[in-house]
Amino acid sequence: MAEVAFRNVTKRYGATLAVDDASVTVADNEFFCFFGPPLSGKSTILRLILGLEKPDSGEILIDDRAVNEVSAAARNIAMVFQNLALFPHMTAADTVRFPLVERREAPAKIEARLRDVAEKLHIGHILHKMLGQLSGGERQRVAIARALVRDPAAYLMDDPISALDARLREEARVALKRIQREAGRMLIYVTHDQEKAHVSGGPDGHFGRWRDPADWPPGGNL
Ligand SMILES: Nc1ncnc2c1ncn2[C@@H]1O[C@H](COP(=O)(O)OP(=O)(O)O)[C@@H](O)[C@H]1O
Ligand SMILES: [Mg+2]
Repeated sequence: MAEVAFRNVTKRYGATLAVDDASVTVADNEFFCFFGPPLSGKSTILRLILGLEKPDSGEILIDDRAVNEVSAAARNIAMVFQNLALFPHMTAADTVRFPLVERREAPAKIEARLRDVAEKLHIGHILHKMLGQLSGGERQRVAIARALVRDPAAYLMDDPISALDARLREEARVALKRIQREAGRMLIYVTHDQEKAHVSGGPDGHFGRWRDPADWPPGGNL
């Protein structure tokens, strides 16, 4: 169970107003997507939810509990970053396993989860390769698998499939929706591509709502 809410959240970097008085509630189990042009504050919003940044004012709530002072580690949220900070000399398999190894999960469970996400994201055939040997699109799928292998309260994805070619993007989109449904967890998905957001949100309605953060009415809910 998780519900994430922003109450009048503002974040500045020096003179730059990155997030301006944003209020939004994302419900449990929702596939929530929003889009905006570059530099509109999308990545900042995800970092605020994850706990890598603190708002200058306003409140962030997870399940009605204010988390402004709660560390990222204690929030149990998994994120796929826009710029993948992965290790070139690690195999894809070890990269995906890492979050579970770090949590000292049982080896049998780790291998089962690894097989499961590898199948869903079609990376079984590259698990033995070093990340440095993979294409950008393959690395991105590994990064998504690494987030999905855990069982966090919420998944955050920062434009995670933009580097994939058209066919793999479509596959990844379908996989993400299915995985989100099966996991029964919130997935917040950010993209700079309005069309992608609309297309993804289209036929089966799993994308809830989207809005350019720059258009958020002050203090208003989406
Ligand atoms: N660590 C930072 N230091 C200074 N300015 C930042 C930092 N992160 C983001 N910004 C600024 O905040 C604004 C929003 O950035 P960002 O959240 O990355 O937007 P988006 O993800 O929509 O491209 C931009 O003007 C950006 O330059
Ligand atoms: Mg960004």
